[in-house]
Amino acid sequence: LVLIVDFGGQYNQLIARRVRDCNVYCEIIPYTYSLEKIKEKNPKGIIFTGGPSSVYAEGAPKISKEIFEMNIPILGICYGAQIMSHTLGGNVRRGDKREYGKTEINYKESLIFKGVDSKNITWMSHTDLIDKAPEGFEIIAHTNDCPVAAIQNEEKKLYGVQFHPEVEHSIQGNEIIKNFLFEVCNLNGSWTMDSFIDQKVKEIKEKVGDKKVLCALSGGVDSSVAAVLVHKAIGDNLTCIFVDHGLLRKNEGDQVEQIFRKEFKMNLIRVNAQDRFLSKLSGVSEPEAKRKIIGEEFIRVFEEESNKLGKMDFLVQGTIYPDVIESGAGESGASTIKSHHNVGGIPEDIEFEIIEPLRSLFKDEVRRLGLELEIPEYLIFRHPFPGPGLGIRVIGEVTKDKLDILREADDIYMQELKNNDLYDKIWQAFATLPDVKTVGVMGDERTYAHLVGLRAVTSSDGMTSDWYKMPYDVLEKISSRIVNEVDGVNRVVYDITSKPPGTIEWE
Ligand code: XMP
Repeated sequence: LVLIVDFGGQYNQLIARRVRDCNVYCEIIPYTYSLEKIKEKNPKGIIFTGGPSSVYAEGAPKISKEIFEMNIPILGICYGAQIMSHTLGGNVRRGDKREYGKTEINYKESLIFKGVDSKNITWMSHTDLIDKAPEGFEIIAHTNDCPVAAIQNEEKKLYGVQFHPEVEHSIQGNEIIKNFLFEVCNLNGSWTMDSFIDQKVKEIKEKVGDKKVLCALSGGVDSSVAAVLVHKAIGDNLTCIFVDHGLLRKNEGDQVEQIFRKEFKMNLIRVNAQDRFLSKLSGVSEPEAKRKIIGEEFIRVFEEESNKLGKMDFLVQGTIYPDVIESGAGESGASTIKSHHNVGGIPEDIEFEIIEPLRSLFKDEVRRLGLELEIPEYLIFRHPFPGPGLGIRVIGEVTKDKLDILREADDIYMQELKNNDLYDKIWQAFATLPDVKTVGVMGDERTYAHLVGLRAVTSSDGMTSDWYKMPYDVLEKISSRIVNEVDGVNRVVYDITSKPPGTIEWE
């Protein structure tokens, strides 16, 4: 284990990423974490991140001097290097000039620069700099504007770098991180998803004992992987509630039941609440009003079902690392739910202790874990799907007929994307059913039927996106199949709006 001590830097996730890519397990902890707790975790190495402060500023993050006496190798990056230097008696001051961007750097010989060219390009982003290294340290790199770009105390295994080896623009930056992990900390890079599973299973067993655990399973990647992992640890003491609100894609409810109940033999309660949701949605066409109704009804159904089960002690949440917004909250541990969370909203006033086994993982790691746990690939690599489901893809008022039409059209669309090997190239694709009918002609007959809209976007996080340049022949096939095979549809359009100004969903 390597601990990454968070001083509020913007690249912290990237550091964690790089370490994990070396098959070394790491956790991010806040700089306020106590030395006792650090000792308990028994890390083989520690990395201090960058941060926005100046070591002299009032309220600047500090670190106890004792951490340097624990015989654990430490690598300080940017602010991390400055705080190391400052705490150990070196001098830090404001630079004459802010150094930002790609910068030429000269490295001296050092274990952490093993195999790295002596002159290279690195990424700088700092205002302060180390003026004088602490006693016992030597300077091992410099740039034009930064005479102390890296320091080391080889004997104590303390290293500080002013630049950011974790950033892609730092040529051979990865080598430096690897050298710290493998040469300095003597780690062997043997961490795999297997060992993560063993460790989590043990942790969950210890924490839960014989108590009862509840999980809101949506069939999405995160909640599915979290549920299967917890099930592996505690078996039948886990009960999953799957609320089928009738706004799912074709066969989705049955697939969830098949996978989790039949194959994984989990306690799964499928609540068939389609009629309840439909009647609440009747006559409602405004998107936010629909979202609110679906969210509230979800909570009500979930609550009713969980009340039937008697006292449950824990609740599983599929929170993943990018959801952990609060800096430094990365410690996997229990806290009591106070308000909302992901998974379409969980009752606010039920008090559970929560279990978040995926809290330290990135999305692609969750996927790897899911595959390791033998969850089917189609579920693991499925495009994101919104909590309100087809409720916001049937534009305007939602009815059973419209949902059925949309499900068929969407299913054909997905089949064709898969047949043409396009599904995995697209971040999210789906059909929508606008509240529009158009005139067409079929055979000799005039038709007056629904319009289907197709959306496909590329994106990295859904915040911005571009429309996918779908090959015409594929569009043609999809359009012709939908019009021919789906009763009630006579026209298909393809959405060519990016986000912004459009959103990905139509509502
Ligand atoms: P928009 O339409 O805002 O969507 O560009 C961005 C991403 O968020 C998803 N989305 C939702 N997810 N509840 C959800 O859980 C919602 O109400 C909701 N609205 C949009 C959308 O599918 C896309 O991935």
